[in-house]
Amino acid sequence: MPPLTERQIRDALAPRDTGRFGANLYYYDQIDSTNDVARALAEEEAPEGTLVMADTQTAGRGRLGRSWIAPPGTSLLMSILFRPSLPLEWVHRLVMVCGLAVAEAAEAAIGVPVDVKWPNDLLLGGKKFTGLLPESAIIGDKLAWVIVGIGVNVNTVFAPPDPLAETATSLRMVGGREYERASLLGEILANLNRWHTRIYDSALIETWRARCVTLGQRIRVETSGAVIEGLAEELDDSGALWLRDNAGQRRRLFSSEATVLRS
Ligand code: BTN
Repeated sequence: MPPLTERQIRDALAPRDTGRFGANLYYYDQIDSTNDVARALAEEEAPEGTLVMADTQTAGRGRLGRSWIAPPGTSLLMSILFRPSLPLEWVHRLVMVCGLAVAEAAEAAIGVPVDVKWPNDLLLGGKKFTGLLPESAIIGDKLAWVIVGIGVNVNTVFAPPDPLAETATSLRMVGGREYERASLLGEILANLNRWHTRIYDSALIETWRARCVTLGQRIRVETSGAVIEGLAEELDDSGALWLRDNAGQRRRLFSSEATVLRS
C-alpha cells in the first residue's frame, strides 16, 4: 500500500472530535523512531497532544530493548505526548487510555473482540496486533512528560517462516481485508480524547480489567533479573498486577513480561 500522507491524516482528523490530540502533527515517510522524535519535542516544550507519526521506522523500538519492525505501508506507527498532572504511580493509566482507544477502534472496524495482555499488549484471537511503549521524564516528584508509542499492525501479513507468524497478527489477517489507516487513526484519536477526559474515573481501570486475559492465569514473569511464577490475581487502580507466587506470597508488579503457563 502507498505511504500515508499528511493530507490524509489531517482530513481524517478534521471531522472528528480529537481535541488537542493530533493538532500538533509531525509526519514522516521514514524516521528512526517516532518515540525518539517525540522525546526531543517534549524536551523542547511541545504541547500536550503532539502526535508524531511515520509510515515506517528504521530503528523502531519495542519494550524490554526489543526492536519493532513494520514494513512500509502496513501499520500505524505513532507517539503521543502527554503532560499529565497525575500521581507518578498512575502513569500506566495513560497506557490504558491509549490501549482502550485502539481496542475500541479496532473492534468497531473488524467486529472481533480485542483482549489486553498485561501490561501493554493488545491481542486478537490470542495473537498480538498492537504494542504500547510508554516513556517518561520525572522532575522532582512530578511527571514532566509522558510519551506513549503505539504500533498497530493494520495491513501487515505474517507468514511462516517468519517466526512472528506464531505470535503476531493484524486487522487484515483477522478481518480478511485491508483497512484504511487514516480513518482508523481518526477513530483512535477520537476514542483517546474521550478516555483521556476519564483518566481519574474508575471506569477506565474497570474497562481495562474486563479486557485483561492475563487475570486468573498462571503466569511466569521476569522482573529485576528474577523469574517468578504464580497466579495473576488482580489489577489494581494504578494498573499494577498482583501475583500470588508459588510460596503463597502476594507480589505487586508494575511492568514486566508475562508468559502464560499452560498445564
Ligand atoms: C512493544 O510491544 O514492545 C511496544 C511496541 C511499540 C512500538 C511503537 S511503533 C511507534 C513507536 N515508536 C517506536 O520506536 N516504538 C513505538
